[in-house]
Amino acid sequence: MAKISNKAPKNADVVVTLFDKKDVKKLKLEKAQLTFLESELNVNRNTVLMPSLTEKHFYVAIEGNWNAEAKEGMRKTGVEIQAAVNKTNLESLHIVNQSALEKAAWYLAEGAALSNYQFLKYFKDKENKKNTLSKIFVTDATISEEEWSELHGIVEGTELARTLVNEPVSFLTATQFSEEMNKAGKVAGFKTQILNKKQIEALKMGGLLGVNKGSIDPPTFTIMEYKPKNAKNKKPIVLVGKGVVFDTGGLSLKPTPGSMDEMKCDMAGGAAVVGAIYAIAANKLPVHVIALVPATDNRPGGNALCPQDVITISDGTTVEVLNTDAEGRLILADALVYAKKYKPELVIDLATLTGAAVRSIGTYASAVMATADQKVVNNLMDSGFEVWERLIQFPMWKEYGEEMKSDVADLKNLGGAFAGQISAAKFLEHFTDYPWIHIDIAGPAYQNKVDAYRTKGGVGVGVRLLYDFIKKNYAN
Ligand code: BES
Ligand code: MG
Ligand code: ZN
Repeated sequence: MAKISNKAPKNADVVVTLFDKKDVKKLKLEKAQLTFLESELNVNRNTVLMPSLTEKHFYVAIEGNWNAEAKEGMRKTGVEIQAAVNKTNLESLHIVNQSALEKAAWYLAEGAALSNYQFLKYFKDKENKKNTLSKIFVTDATISEEEWSELHGIVEGTELARTLVNEPVSFLTATQFSEEMNKAGKVAGFKTQILNKKQIEALKMGGLLGVNKGSIDPPTFTIMEYKPKNAKNKKPIVLVGKGVVFDTGGLSLKPTPGSMDEMKCDMAGGAAVVGAIYAIAANKLPVHVIALVPATDNRPGGNALCPQDVITISDGTTVEVLNTDAEGRLILADALVYAKKYKPELVIDLATLTGAAVRSIGTYASAVMATADQKVVNNLMDSGFEVWERLIQFPMWKEYGEEMKSDVADLKNLGGAFAGQISAAKFLEHFTDYPWIHIDIAGPAYQNKVDAYRTKGGVGVGVRLLYDFIKKNYAN
């Protein structure tokens, strides 16, 4: 990734000056330059490339309220500038915040760095395809020294999550996924324990083992822990991520055309919690965090789970499986049961769980359902706006849970035709006994087109959200 630092060089290839629009006259510009800039600003162009033969210098005017939307606009400006740098094969970018707006350069750098991400592993001529932008320098008096390296860790965590999603199952089996978590832990400084199939059997994780029955590759259950000596929280925050490395639907094979085409993304929840604990550990936040990822592929096969089979989750709850494509909730059930042993302060799970979440709100937000205190949920939703990974909350009324009752077992894994994201959440709730938030990221997890700094493929959604939320609410 592009290296981000606050050690400004004498001459970078491209310079960006951020300024408050009303202070345009205070910029140290020659008369002709000022006239040019003002005429551009007059036609509402807020990103202006100053004509010059010797240097590439952008002036970015900021106006209006410095709110979450304006910060998102700054990230998008970062995308434009990143594109201009790469298009002309330049390498270094220096962003200077001359405005008094807090951390203005941070957001621009964030957008530039995130949009500079590429997944080139499988190209023969990857060297030629590589973006040239490799160094981002920032001068901003409103940002402290620690905050700088922090942005680097956050971008790295997001890129890690993207790459894990972008890897196809031909590489990223459950075993490989766990191995990648282990590697990430070694780099960032968190501990990783990988449970293999035998250990998963010993724990009687019937949900994870059930989904894995049609597969030729074994499941894994990975436990990551970051526990610094100076942790501010007594009880840990536990993150849980769905790790279905590919979802064919199993014997209830995905029925509609195209519905299987992007299903390597079905471990995006797992990738998000890995990326989040990576960023937290890399930046040494004083907070005790545990991340759990149950992983398997979901395939039909000789011994695959059949509709009407009854399986037993690790807490003894029996589940009638009516649709093997509703597999995420089965593996999450075992992980949520496992989380009980930590007596957690809060558990947050992230999962590409339902098409219903996508149908209800599209790809611009994730669906949240929770039993945690509403204040905690509101704080998470605030972080959602701050990092522009927005959340919409759905109710957890008990009527939605009635749908999940079975004639032959404690629960069934299939609800009614409507509001499937809620009945799925009601199913999961059964396995919790602690304050809990469920985030259905099926909409924003994967992009089939570029959307500003959300590159095509895995988006890494959840990493910046969890980081911001945990930092603000538990690390001080
Ligand atoms: N992984 C899918 C959900 C999904 C859909 C993720 C679209 C990303 C984009 C999940 O396992 C699934 O298949 N859900 C079913 C559940 C249904 C059978 C109750 C769904 O939503 O159709
Ligand atoms: Mg499925
Ligand atoms: Zn799935």
